[in-house]
Amino acid sequence: MIHNSLFKKYGLEAYYHPFHVKKETLAETIHAMKLLNIAGFNVTVPHKERIIPYLDEIDDLAKMIGAVNTVKNESGKLIGYNTDGIGFVESLKELDNEFINKRIVIIGAGGAARAIYFSLASAGVKCLDIANRTENNALKIIHAYPLNIETNCLTLNQLEQSLHHYDIIIQTTSVGMEPNDHQSLIEFSKLQINTLVIDIIYKPAVTKFLKNAEMNGARIDNGLTMLYNQAAYAFQIWTGIFPDVSKGITT
Ligand code: ATR
Repeated sequence: MIHNSLFKKYGLEAYYHPFHVKKETLAETIHAMKLLNIAGFNVTVPHKERIIPYLDEIDDLAKMIGAVNTVKNESGKLIGYNTDGIGFVESLKELDNEFINKRIVIIGAGGAARAIYFSLASAGVKCLDIANRTENNALKIIHAYPLNIETNCLTLNQLEQSLHHYDIIIQTTSVGMEPNDHQSLIEFSKLQINTLVIDIIYKPAVTKFLKNAEMNGARIDNGLTMLYNQAAYAFQIWTGIFPDVSKGITT
């Protein structure tokens, strides 16, 4: 709906269509995209990492993140990009334009956490910690980032005890997503009033995690702004136009 309404808005003769692609047919699907001369496409879970070997070129940020969510077909050459992280940074700017100087913690260490960590670190955030169930997965993200930034790894219990240290808390795991919307990874009793708490899930619109945070005085936001902004950057890669996604789009 986002892309089709943007094509209409900008008078472009194009159509965006979802395809369900199984792991076993990923290679043939990509080959078909080339054969049919599809101008570009998005890639989502669970193919963001495994698509990389099938592409002809990967842009530097996507290479560093190790995942691709946007592909452009340039005269038969498929080029992979990642707009998740920059989409998130753009949405964070709208919520707190001083975010660079804030103390931020990311919960989770999967693909989304990695994209967000790299993009926030590249944007200049200095205090950026990771809280995750498995410490080793958090360490992998920190070690893969090429510049030296100070990051502490915490367990989820340690995070619960030190919530008051953070200005911004970002939940990046799929815990709490429909149909498991009764789940929330942490309790918020030690939260500072007015902490910004973001959950990148948008189904349900308000996760149990966000509800609990709000009840403890947080400002909250879900993943819809990130969804719009990653789409805006993908649209720009395909068409050269950076669209205004804030108005006139219904999802
Ligand atoms: P992505 O799609 O971004 O790769 P995901 O696969 O939904 O993300 O989630 C991966 C992250 O969610 C991991 O950090 C994982 O923790 P581990 O590194 O310990 O595996 C975290 N995660 C998933 N389910 C979880 C659960 N039930 N409790 C705590 N963390 C969980």
